Formats: sequence, C-alpha cells, structure tokens
Amino acid sequence: MGISLDGLRDKNLMQLKKLNLALFPVRYNDKYYADALSSGEFTKLAYYSDICVGAIACRLEKMEGGSVRAYIMTLGVLAPYRGLGIGTKLLNHVMELSAKQNISEIYLHVQTNNDDAIAFYKKFGFEIAETIQNYYTNISPPDCYVVSKLLPVSSAKK
Ligand SMILES: CC(C)(COP(=O)(O)OP(=O)(O)OC[C@H]1O[C@@H](n2cnc3c(N)ncnc32)[C@H](O)[C@@H]1OP(=O)(O)O)[C@@H](O)C(=O)NCCC(=O)NCCS
Repeated sequence: MGISLDGLRDKNLMQLKKLNLALFPVRYNDKYYADALSSGEFTKLAYYSDICVGAIACRLEKMEGGSVRAYIMTLGVLAPYRGLGIGTKLLNHVMELSAKQNISEIYLHVQTNNDDAIAFYKKFGFEIAETIQNYYTNISPPDCYVVSKLLPVSSAKK
C-alpha cells in the first residue's frame, strides 16, 4: 500500500493545520504548532499516494529526575482513509521511536465518548489512567480520559 510518513517542517505546516481543521472540534494554538515542530521525528504527516490524509503530533515533556514523556497532542486520519492501517502506522512509529529514546511513558487525552479512539489505543496496550471532568470547555461531553502506556526504561547509560 502506498502509505508513507514525512516529517513536519515550516514548509508543510499548513498541511497539519488543514488536517486539524477537518478532524477536530478544537482549534489549536501557536504553541501546539511550535511544540509539534520542535518534537522532531515525534510528529509525522501520513501520505496516501500523494495526498496528506493523517498525522500524529506529539510534545516531549522533560520530567523531574530526568525521564521524558511523550504526549500525543493529536492523532487523526481523514474518515475516507480510516481502516487502512494508517493510524496504526503513525502510532507504531511513535511507540518504536519512544522505545529507542528511552521515553518512560506515552499518554494522551481522549474525549470519554470517543469509543473508536479508546478501542484503538487499548489494542496497543494503552490503559485508562484517570478521568478528568470538564476538561474541554466547548464540546460535549466535556470529560476526558487520560490514556497511558508505560514503557520499560533501561537505566544503562550509553
Ligand atoms: C483513531 C484513528 C486515528 C484510527 O486511524 P485508522 O487509520 O482508521 O486506524 P487503522 O486503520 O490502523 O485501524 C485501527 C483499528 O481501527 C478500527 N477500524 C477499522 N476500520 C475502521 C473505520 N473505517 N473507521 C474507524 N475505525 C476503523 C479497527 O478496530 C482497526 O483495527 P483492525 O485493523 O485490527 O481491525 C481514526 O479513527 C481517527 O482519526 N479518528 C478521529 C480522530 C480521533 O478521534 N483521534 C483520536 C484522539 S487524539
């Protein structure tokens, strides 16, 4: 299948903006795009042939004590292109990169009624860690789950 991933750069930032407008009821601010750009390989656009149809955008968070967490800000695939393995390819990419870079946890927020996304993440070993009431201000329901996957961290320094 002709699915390929491409990094995010100033030149293709508009692709991510257009995807987010089509996919999510939330408007993302400049900080979101700055975080996505500075996450390096942790943010990827997915192309089906030559068409940009999906993306994963992460923010890396340095924790006290030195460990790093990856926060998935958004993961989405345009509806006509779902069920083709594109979401899997994007998430696997971030999981593999996280394992290589000794990331301790991958986590995200998902609206409590988003059954497709919750089932999707559970398939990859993510678990519901917490429920936050009134997390969203202008969508209903306003509640979210924190969905998380802990990764084995090796203490060996290279
Ligand atoms: C969650 C999401 C990213 C999955 O993307 P995707 O490209 O459809 O994922 P895949 O093709 O890898 O399929 C993964 C699973 O989704 C389910 N699925 C299959 N076809 C589907 C379809 N047409 N529509 C929705 N889900 C489908 C299946 O359970 C599939 O697993 P399987 O192949 O083992 O049966 C996508 O549904 C999406 O963009 N949703 C809207 C945005 C969103 O809610 N994102 C999550 C919050 S950040």
